[in-house]
Amino acid sequence: MCGIVGYVGKRPAAPILLDGLGKLEYRGYDSAGIAVCDSGKIQMKKARGRLKVLSELTHDGEIFPGHVGIGHTRWATHGEPSDVNAHPHFNADNSIVVVHNGIIENYLKLKKKLIEKGYKFISDTDTEVIAHLLDYYYHGNPMQAIIKIMHRMEGSYALGILFKDHPEELYAVRKDSPLIVGHTRDGCIIASDVPAVLKYTRDVYFIENEEIVCMRQDSMEFFNVDEEPIEKEPTHIEWDVDAAEKGGYEHFMLKEMYEQPRAITDTFSPRIKGREICIEELAMSDEEILNIKKIMIVACGSAYHAGVTGKYVLEGMARIPVEVDLASEYRYRNPLIEEGTLTIIISQSGETADSLAALRDSRERGAKVLGVVNVVGSSIAREADNVMYTWAGPEIAVATTKAYSCQLIALYLLAMKFAQVRKTISDTELGGYIEDMKRIPDQVEMLLNNKNRIQKFANRYLAARDVFFIGRGIDYAISLEGSLKLKEISYIHSEAYAAGELKHGTISLIEEGTLVAAVLTQENLYKKMISNMVEVRTRGAFVLAVTNEGNHEIRKAADYVIYIPETNQYFTNSLAIIPLQLFAYYISVGKGCDVDKPRNLAKSVTVE
Ligand code: M6R
Repeated sequence: MCGIVGYVGKRPAAPILLDGLGKLEYRGYDSAGIAVCDSGKIQMKKARGRLKVLSELTHDGEIFPGHVGIGHTRWATHGEPSDVNAHPHFNADNSIVVVHNGIIENYLKLKKKLIEKGYKFISDTDTEVIAHLLDYYYHGNPMQAIIKIMHRMEGSYALGILFKDHPEELYAVRKDSPLIVGHTRDGCIIASDVPAVLKYTRDVYFIENEEIVCMRQDSMEFFNVDEEPIEKEPTHIEWDVDAAEKGGYEHFMLKEMYEQPRAITDTFSPRIKGREICIEELAMSDEEILNIKKIMIVACGSAYHAGVTGKYVLEGMARIPVEVDLASEYRYRNPLIEEGTLTIIISQSGETADSLAALRDSRERGAKVLGVVNVVGSSIAREADNVMYTWAGPEIAVATTKAYSCQLIALYLLAMKFAQVRKTISDTELGGYIEDMKRIPDQVEMLLNNKNRIQKFANRYLAARDVFFIGRGIDYAISLEGSLKLKEISYIHSEAYAAGELKHGTISLIEEGTLVAAVLTQENLYKKMISNMVEVRTRGAFVLAVTNEGNHEIRKAADYVIYIPETNQYFTNSLAIIPLQLFAYYISVGKGCDVDKPRNLAKSVTVE
């Protein structure tokens, strides 16, 4: 996730910017840059790679003696990691410079309009649009230009802005991306997160949506979007640097779980236009979509589990046959690829060796390959014919949570798009799915807020030896992911079974007190699932059920019930997985395991 730092004060800005950016390194980044106002000019340096490269280029900031500046670490979203795409971004005559965290959803529309007005673009970023848009509306008054662009931009943004004509001022504004400001002993500082400012102040102002801040060496003024001044109270930060990096959360995994509502919104909102699904990056005409004969989903670990859900959703909605493969199996099984095959490779890192090999194999056999990838510019993103990015931001915990949730959203969107074009669902049905999707972020948040109840339940199972997860259909896919989450971070043996398979062997493992987590979100399968729950319960199992609100019958077959809010049959995974993530997390915490870095595991598996 991008990191922003800005400073105006008595001291040279550049070393403070570099120091602050260093404190934001944990957020993940691929390039960095700074811009400083000095002697009537804005000077800038930026570079792909580690912050060290930028420090060397600027001699630790010494080459820029100015006292007003902005800095940025970039996590690529629009455009691959490169010097040109790195922030800050200038307008044409280098009189306005911007750093940005977030996604401007309507940037293509804005870019087109600006090009028509004669503006030239040198990067692939959405941020450069902001610099030119400010230029277009700037007639000597920065505040008015900022307010004008706020009315034009859709999406999320935290911005730090400098105007050459106002060399003593630093501007900041935000919507749906975090930004804090604070007074230092000799000036003002802005940052996207607390660790960057802790060395300079512990009293910070959290900028709210659509608030603007104008800072000078000795003043800080807050305004709303109507340019009316606002009074704000600072918050005193008690956290140490380590806690601050995690935003006050005990672990990155918990922080990332809490980032899910935002990440989900960022993934779907640029792709829903009114009552239409627009996935521009798919680059497939309606005719090509109509000609898809088969979809092959290939991935590893949790990404594979997202793919299993994708199979049910794509087949159910779009009526296209789907095969799902583990990449490590696919690459050696000599798969049959006929004309009209679309291969979807799902990967958070975009670097998983088996998934990359499967991609190459599939292309060689003549399939069109779509990557569903989180890391922009990664190998899978580069080698796929087309890429649909999940906008989860960097994920630091080894156990994936938010990236997995965004992979599900990407697959739902593809299913909706294909179903729309192939007319396998009506416009009314599509409208209903769109409304349901827009509700997911709030529903996820609600489930996350139930964490205390799940923690209490988890604490009863810290000594568990085996846990079984059972479900049918999509619920089997949820069970696979719930089980993987638990075993990878708590080291408790756990298995996921298609509930109907129990009686073919697994049921012999059920003993008095064995925990069985039963997932039932598919109404048409309730009765079948309840029979399976009774089967294990009569053999001594303790049954935890995750089911839809309103399924009161469940109490007859379960010992403990967690309800998920109402959604349609296809999107239930996005909700049911939240209590299972929390369950795994609290077991791991309770057992004192290394939650974010479980033993023997790496975040990115670049070897076979
Ligand atoms: O980066 P990828 O999505 O390709 O990674 C795939 C798996 O290695 C990954 O999902 C792994 O299973 C996670 N540790 C699960 O939490």
